[in-house]
Amino acid sequence: MTRLDPHSYCDSDQPRTRRLDLALDVDFARQVLVGRATLDLGDPSSGPLDLDTKDLAIRSARTDDGRAVRFVLGDEEPILGRRLRLDLPAGTRQVEIAYETAPDAVALQWLAPEQTEGKRHPFLFSQCQSIHARTMLPCQDTPLVRVPYRAEVTIPEGLAAVMSAGPSGQRAGPRPGTRTWVFEMPQAIPSYLLALAVGDLAAKDLSHRARVWAEPETVAAAAWEFAGVEAMIQAAERLFGPYEWDRYDMLVLPPSFPYGGMENPRMTFLTPTLLAGDRSLVDVVAHELAHSWTGNLVTNATMEHFWLNEGFTVWAERRLVEALHGSEATALAWAIGQKALDESVARFGADSPLTKLRTDLAGVDPDEAFSSIPYEKGARLVSLLEQTVGRERFDRFVHAYIARFRFTSITTEEFLPFLEAELPGVAAKVGIRDWLYGVGMPANAPVFRSDALTTLTALAEGFAGGARPSPEQITAWNPTQMLIYLQHLPRALSAGDCAWLDANLALTPRGNHEILVEWLVIAAGSDYAPVFARVRDVLSRVGRMKYLRPLYAALGRQPRTRALAREIFAGARPGYHALSRRVIESVLGKYDG
Ligand code: BES
Ligand code: ZN
Repeated sequence: MTRLDPHSYCDSDQPRTRRLDLALDVDFARQVLVGRATLDLGDPSSGPLDLDTKDLAIRSARTDDGRAVRFVLGDEEPILGRRLRLDLPAGTRQVEIAYETAPDAVALQWLAPEQTEGKRHPFLFSQCQSIHARTMLPCQDTPLVRVPYRAEVTIPEGLAAVMSAGPSGQRAGPRPGTRTWVFEMPQAIPSYLLALAVGDLAAKDLSHRARVWAEPETVAAAAWEFAGVEAMIQAAERLFGPYEWDRYDMLVLPPSFPYGGMENPRMTFLTPTLLAGDRSLVDVVAHELAHSWTGNLVTNATMEHFWLNEGFTVWAERRLVEALHGSEATALAWAIGQKALDESVARFGADSPLTKLRTDLAGVDPDEAFSSIPYEKGARLVSLLEQTVGRERFDRFVHAYIARFRFTSITTEEFLPFLEAELPGVAAKVGIRDWLYGVGMPANAPVFRSDALTTLTALAEGFAGGARPSPEQITAWNPTQMLIYLQHLPRALSAGDCAWLDANLALTPRGNHEILVEWLVIAAGSDYAPVFARVRDVLSRVGRMKYLRPLYAALGRQPRTRALAREIFAGARPGYHALSRRVIESVLGKYDG
């Protein structure tokens, strides 16, 4: 027996799933999926087949010709969940498992109508990355295994369903008041890219192959914000090759969605906090779109190689930003990334093994290991390779990389020989082993400079000494420049300084959550009471972990704001996603007093 992924019971000596057929009945009243998962093994197989499950009730298992399959659920492991061992009778080609999810399945958030924009209908969405697909269905829950899938999803009439797949028709459901939506995903994808959302959804076309879905109340705003997506797809195709997934649709979720975006193929999931009204946050769309090449075509074999997904994608996202908005905007994006990187290195400690790109995650929950390091350290390595060989050669390398590994899942150790074959000597020249297997940041990390960046940081760092931006400077700033200015301000300010900033930069009423949250981190961390109501409003509505973590951490700095944080959390907790809840519990656990 060999397990190739520390986060899965999948055994490389056993058959691999070749195709998946899902039938899901979405029960909003009980907050469960009643499901049937049919795993097609291709060749006739027999003997043990180990699947991943977590919080699933397994009802039965049988072969395609109706023979019962014996099964046993192992003990609960804290990170992995329970192994489901099937004992396949000789000649099994397909096994059908009937099961039910738990109301608190981590992959699924069930929202009450009050938690939606329209307040009239419930909402359900999934988030399977990294290892939560096993709470939604029994499967080989490792990116090493890729499957095409088909799904039939039964939902209440009047609601709509979307998946990381193409739509393939609808019909009347098995009971009055239900409809069954059919989906087909012809391309092989890893389990973490399986995705489903159900709610009161409307759609607006943005081009012949791109459409945005959202609640009816937000779909117009979403269509405006993401109107440039077709231009983005075309720019990405020029950079990385043809878009292979047919359609690029997007779904704007209710505000509790715990991430900024998730690259579910054919249906990117997005936080509604991107709807800033000024198109300033579309770099998240650039990022999720770029995953269509780096991540969804070429996939990390396990979470220990997550940098291959995210490092390459941040690099690709910045190339896209450069193509669309120029090099000045790109330098600012790298600067914002640098800030996130520094904070992650500081949070773990520069000698922490979690600062390596190639990590060892046996016994480690990938959600706990999550940070900006695979993203920003990874992107800096890719950029260093690019700078070392020059853009033209590197672009040819990226095309070759995608062509060689498309629709496969690879390790760092498979990447390295390919790099050596295509760009001989470059790995040694940049000291790639230090980057991959060493902790902290190597000394040869690229630094991205720009005039605007120098001016903004100098002005912000001079704040304590009395430097202030002029009204003309402030009006000339775009949202990204405003954010960089705020990021470089001192963390603890007097009430007078806070009042000056709020009056002159008009911060508290902002709808751009990057700026708003950066401001609230400074102001709430400085115990500045006039922002407390806005802090409560953001923390009670928004579940994006990127915002919750620093805001709750800033509230921990003073006794009064610590009490405020505990009180807000107690009220907001039931509305948070399980993942957000976990992050905040750990932040609050680090408060003293
Ligand atoms: N795939 C990630 C989100 C993710 C990572 C979910 C790991 C679960 C586990 C997605 O592509 C992502 O990186 N989103 C970022 C966007 C940003 C880097 C532009 C986010 O959510 O903030
Ligand atoms: Zn990503």
